[in-house]
Formats: sequence, structure tokens, C-alpha cells
Amino acid sequence: MFSLKILLFLLLRHEQLSKGFPVPSESPEETNAKIAQDYLEKFYQLPRYIYKSERKKSASVIVEKLKEMQRFFGLNVTGKPNNETLEMMTKPRCGVPDSGGFMLTPGNPKWQRTNLTYRIINYTRHLLETDVERIIEQALQVWSRVSPLNFIRTSEEEADIKISFAQGDHGDNSPFDGPNGILAHAFQPGPGLGGDVHFDAEEIWTNTSENYNLFPVAAHEFGHSLGLSHSTDPGALMYPNYAFSEPSTYSLPQDDINGIQAIYGPSSNPVQPTGPTTPTACSPRLTFDAITTLRGEIFFFKDRYFWRKHPQLQRVELNFISLFWPSLPNGIQAAYEDFDKDLVFIFKGNQYWAVSGYDILQGYPKSISNYGFPCSVQAIDAAVSYRGKTYFFVNNEFWRYDDQRQSMDPGYPKSIASTFQGIESKIEAVFQQHDFFLFFSGPRYYAYDFNAHRVTGVDRSNRWLNCRSE
Ligand SMILES: *[C@@H]1O[C@H](CO)[C@@H](O)[C@H](O)[C@H]1NC(C)=O
Ligand SMILES: *[C@@H]1O[C@H](CO)[C@@H](O)[C@H](O)[C@H]1NC(C)=O
Ligand SMILES: *[C@@H]1O[C@H](CO)[C@@H](O)[C@H](O)[C@H]1NC(C)=O
Ligand SMILES: *[C@@H]1O[C@H](CO)[C@@H](O)[C@H](O)[C@H]1NC(C)=O
Ligand SMILES: *[C@@H]1O[C@H](CO)[C@@H](O)[C@H](O)[C@H]1NC(C)=O
Ligand SMILES: [Zn+2]
Ligand SMILES: [Zn+2]
Repeated sequence: MFSLKILLFLLLRHEQLSKGFPVPSESPEETNAKIAQDYLEKFYQLPRYIYKSERKKSASVIVEKLKEMQRFFGLNVTGKPNNETLEMMTKPRCGVPDSGGFMLTPGNPKWQRTNLTYRIINYTRHLLETDVERIIEQALQVWSRVSPLNFIRTSEEEADIKISFAQGDHGDNSPFDGPNGILAHAFQPGPGLGGDVHFDAEEIWTNTSENYNLFPVAAHEFGHSLGLSHSTDPGALMYPNYAFSEPSTYSLPQDDINGIQAIYGPSSNPVQPTGPTTPTACSPRLTFDAITTLRGEIFFFKDRYFWRKHPQLQRVELNFISLFWPSLPNGIQAAYEDFDKDLVFIFKGNQYWAVSGYDILQGYPKSISNYGFPCSVQAIDAAVSYRGKTYFFVNNEFWRYDDQRQSMDPGYPKSIASTFQGIESKIEAVFQQHDFFLFFSGPRYYAYDFNAHRVTGVDRSNRWLNCRSE
């Protein structure tokens, strides 16, 4: 009787629930396995297994392919579709496989000429035709600037690089998948389809920070048109996943410059161009531009990037600043979290921005003179908020701002060294944790105990990024 009642109750609940939500026919494990298998089939040449007799064999092949994928993206090589792996698999990306596949011609294909023609076959309805033409030209210049290649637009039928927007199945055995997921793909140098670039017409293509900006995707695909494959460097243009970048300030990363020059030789420009290199967490010379906590995590800013450290996770994630906050500049100089307002304030030069999670508040950037700095202060080295006061470090002095009264405390600036005993050098970044100020200067950090008024520990900065070696 008792159990029957419960059973009825459960059935009823199920009935009620199913009215509101479609009942999933699969367990989460099955869904995850399907996501992983689908991804590996598309990008890691996992064969499609149709027959039952092949299933057993497929399990071990899937594990191997998963490990290959995890190795490529620098994840923990477990062979299991764990959360970090699934998260990586759901990011928007290029449709070209990550290791030689059916869309890549074998060998090391290259164009035998340096003057190449391109033709724009059709357009996206989300941008004006002239905008698409300008963006395509800018995306090709990314490569011509650093190599001996020239690109000439043609309206003739035959062109080396044919550019089109197509949706779903479009006749090359590599159908698009609708919005998100695969954004575009391209073919390596060669006749016919060789060199051609296809964009998924079902994406919303933009010339802003909204998804998806056409410029970085086009520049990436042209890399394939010229003979480059995917790079494992997360900062490289040829990394498979989408990242927003602005054409007017874009500088091709060194990894991609090295790639294109390995195929076509140096630029014909007398001054060889160079590009940014991706910072490596475990470099002994690593320094940070700014550090802040954000809702329990720690963000370490460096150039165009930040590392994100979650207290419960081993892995520290490197991201582009533009991926989270497309309108923030690179090279942030200071940042602090205001816990009461649940905001992070970000500083560069004499401007600052207020950030709430992924959103930048309206009306920013503002001038740092709002805090009451004299005009002589044109930039902040580091900032941290603690017990209702915000500390701003500038050269060898610091200011203290009262968050309640919204004004600088009298008697400031004061000398850093005389207040924070043991902090002798210029501060580049600081954050606060458990009544400690963690000061970063060069490749070291100093743990300053706010209650004991002294430095209680010194170590290498990159310890915070879980680097143990060296
Ligand atoms: C994986 O993610 C799910 C949902 O996001 C969460 O419930 C689960 O605890 C996570 N597992 C691990 C091992 O982090
Ligand atoms: C390539 O094009 C440039 C102009 O864009 C021209 O000056 C040069 O002569 C051309 N080279 C060849 C080999 O056709
Ligand atoms: C962006 O694209 C839109 C639509 O094509 C156009 O109206 C606008 O002028 C473009 N803006 C810039 C800065 O190119
Ligand atoms: C654009 O051209 C390509 C190649 O000819 C074709 O497959 C595609 O359907 C065209 N797209 C549109 C939106 O007409
Ligand atoms: C990698 O996975 C193993 C096995 O699941 C685990 O013990 C280890 O902590 C993980 N390492 C990292 C860095 O996540
Ligand atoms: Zn690609
Ligand atoms: Zn295609």
C-alpha cells in the first residue's frame, strides 16, 4: 500500500513535469557520449560505427580519439568525456579537422605563385556588400603583410580563392550545422575547390563584437586556403575555436607568422614583421598586468589574455579578454573587486570600466579623476578593495579611497614601503584573500598579512597558475 502510494505520487509528478518539459529520452551520460562521438567524427576522423559487432572495437577507438583531442587542447588526458572536455566541444569553431583529414590534401600543399586571385561569389544578408568586401580585404592583408603573397580581387569565373556563404548541405560532403557550432571551413591550396572558403550562411555575421564577427573567421579560413593547419597555441589565429578580434588593431600572432613564412618565406617588406606571442603560464619570467578576484575566482591579466583560476579546479584556463568583455582594451593595468556592489573595476591609463559578470556597465569608460586623483596621476599600477577601503598603488606611493564616503581619505598618498613593511619594489598587481594582500612585483609575489602588518611569504608568481617545476 505504502509503496503503491509513492509510486502513484511519482507517476503523478512525472506526469506534471512532462507537461512543462519534454522528457529527455536519454540519460545525461548518453547525451554526453553522443556529443563527444559527434565531435570526434567531425574533427578527429572517428569512423562512424553502424553495426553492433563494431561497437566493442569503437569504445577503445573513442578513448584514443578523445585523448588525441584532449592533447590538442591541452586538457587533462583522461580519455573520458568529462566536463572540461565537453565544454571545449561545445565552443563555436572552424569546421576543418584538427589533424589531417578528408578536406586536407595530403603532403604540404602550397600555391606555386605569390600573386593569387580571389572572388566573392555571394554575400550574407546581415552585412552590406561593401562591408563584406572591405572585411575580406582586411582579412587577406593579415597574411600579405607578413609574407611575399599578393591578393587580387577578380570577378571572373576562375579564381584561386572562391568565397561564398552557404547553408546546410552545399555539395562538398561537409554540410554546415545551422547557427553556432561550425562557423566556416576552407580547402587547402589546389585546383577546383582548393583554396575556397565557405561561411555558414545561417550564422549572424557582424562587424562588431556581437557573434560572429566576420573578420577573425575570414582571416583564419584564409590561413587554410594558403596551406596552414590548426595550431595548438590558444593565442594563434589558427587555433580552431572562435575568438573575437577587431580588424583595426589586429596584429597577427608570431605563431601564425612563423607558419606562413615556413611555407612561403619571409615578407618582401625590408623590415620583417613580428607579432605577439602567447604568454606561457610556467615561464619563470612571467609577470602580470593586473589581478582581481571575481565571484570567488581569481583573474590574472596579461596582454590580450587572462588566466582564470577556480578554487576547486586544478586546471587554470587561458582566455582572450575579448572573449569575455569584447569592448575592454588589452593591456589592462589594474583591477579590483567591489564585493558590496558585486562589480569589478578595471583600469587602463586614466580610464576605468565597471564590469558585472560578463557585462560592462553603461556610461563607461570614465576618468580616474572621479576618484579624486590629481592630474599628475595618469595611470594606476595596482588596486585592491578591503574592508570598505580601496587602495590604489602608483609608483612608490598609494592612495586610500573610502567606498562609503566616495572620496579619498585625507593624508594620502603615503609611501608604500613605510606602510607595507617588506614591500620594497614597484607593485604591478595586487589582490586580497583571507586578510592577506598578495603583492606581485616582477616574477615574485609577497604575501602581506594585514593583521600582523608584515610580509609572511615570498614565492614565484606563477605558483598561482599551479606551476610546480623549476
Ligand atoms: C559536471 O557538470 C555538471 C553540470 O554542469 C555538474 O552537475 C557536475 O557536478 C560536474 N561534474 C564535475 C566532476 O565537475
Ligand atoms: C604581382 O602583382 C603585383 C601588383 O599587385 C605586380 O607588381 C607584380 O608584377 C605581380 N607579379 C607577378 C609575378 O605577376
Ligand atoms: C557595420 O555594418 C553595418 C551593416 O552592414 C553598416 O551599416 C555599418 O556602417 C558598419 N560599420 C562599420 C564601422 O563598418
Ligand atoms: C552562394 O554560392 C554557393 C556556391 O555557389 C552556393 O552553394 C550557395 O547556395 C550560395 N548561397 C546563397 C545564399 O545563395
Ligand atoms: C587529471 O585526471 C586525473 C584522473 O581523473 C586526476 O586524478 C587529476 O587530478 C587530473 N589532473 C588535473 C590537472 O586536472
Ligand atoms: Zn580552421
Ligand atoms: Zn563547404
